[in-house]
Amino acid sequence: MATAMAKRLEGKTILVTGASSGIGKSTAMEFARTSPKSLKLVLTARRIDTLKVIAEEIKEEVGSGVQVLPVKLDVSNPSEVKGFVDSLPAQFRDIDVLVNNAGLVKGTAKAPDIADEDIDVMFSTNVTGLINMTQAILPIYKKREDGGRGDIINIGSIAGREAYPGGSIYCATKAAIRSFTDAMRRELIATRIRVMEVDPGQVETEFSVVRFYGDKAKADAVYAGCEPLTPDDIAEVVVFNAARRENVVVADTLIFPNHQAAATVMHKKS
Ligand SMILES: NC(=O)c1ccc[n+]([C@@H]2O[C@H](COP(=O)([O-])OP(=O)(O)OC[C@H]3O[C@@H](n4cnc5c(N)ncnc54)[C@H](OP(=O)(O)O)[C@@H]3O)[C@@H](O)[C@H]2O)c1
Repeated sequence: MATAMAKRLEGKTILVTGASSGIGKSTAMEFARTSPKSLKLVLTARRIDTLKVIAEEIKEEVGSGVQVLPVKLDVSNPSEVKGFVDSLPAQFRDIDVLVNNAGLVKGTAKAPDIADEDIDVMFSTNVTGLINMTQAILPIYKKREDGGRGDIINIGSIAGREAYPGGSIYCATKAAIRSFTDAMRRELIATRIRVMEVDPGQVETEFSVVRFYGDKAKADAVYAGCEPLTPDDIAEVVVFNAARRENVVVADTLIFPNHQAAATVMHKKS
């Protein structure tokens, strides 16, 4: 028998950005596992070959009830985002859930030594990319009855709530997402559109490898002596939020691993 979550998600079209790795990949898998009978997944990222492999993995695991469309999309490129919806095959255009997950951190430099290109890539991906994606999808939602319906789930971070040294730009981008999300929830109050934010603490993904420009040893050192969250832990929350009754908005969620209590308060076993 289908669970309540499976029933509520049945027939929906879910769009996940940054689905080639980490939290985005896990989110795609979790949606497919939760509602395997009838679901459409649009998976986007820059690494299209990786997305194609993930699409095959999903098909193998849950069968043909879930249709997966991998699409190459760089969210930091405004013209790619603008043309995105029209480029989709018609049967994938009626999006119900947007998971704005694509994002990254670069370096640990402090002002005045932060590289221009790192500032640019963090803002253009995490902030402008997320805003442009939202503006591309919202018109689809607003055409629906009662002022509009559909879900926007933004992946923020503990870094958006608490700034830490060596993360000023990343923290600023995630704080910007938080303000944008809160303002939008207020702006859309007369609709049935749900605007939600999920803020993870420490999760082990490719995130730290990207932060340290590919240096895996430095990335591994971040997690030494502690047990970070897995991307599946966050994916479960994202899918839970999307699968609530339409009148329930899980507006804001902060998720830590057990050893973490703040951005920089972590217990490490020696
Ligand atoms: N890991 C953590 O501790 C943590 C904590 C709090 C919040 N977060 C947030 O969680 C989200 C996912 O990160 P993750 O931890 O899963 O890291 P990840 O494993 O590095 O995954 C990041 C994803 O974003 C995609 N991406 C990066 N730049 C992109 C662009 N310009 N256009 C499209 N896609 C892009 C990457 O795909 P391609 O490279 O293929 O484009 C990849 O799929 C991010 O927003 C991050 O800020 C992570």
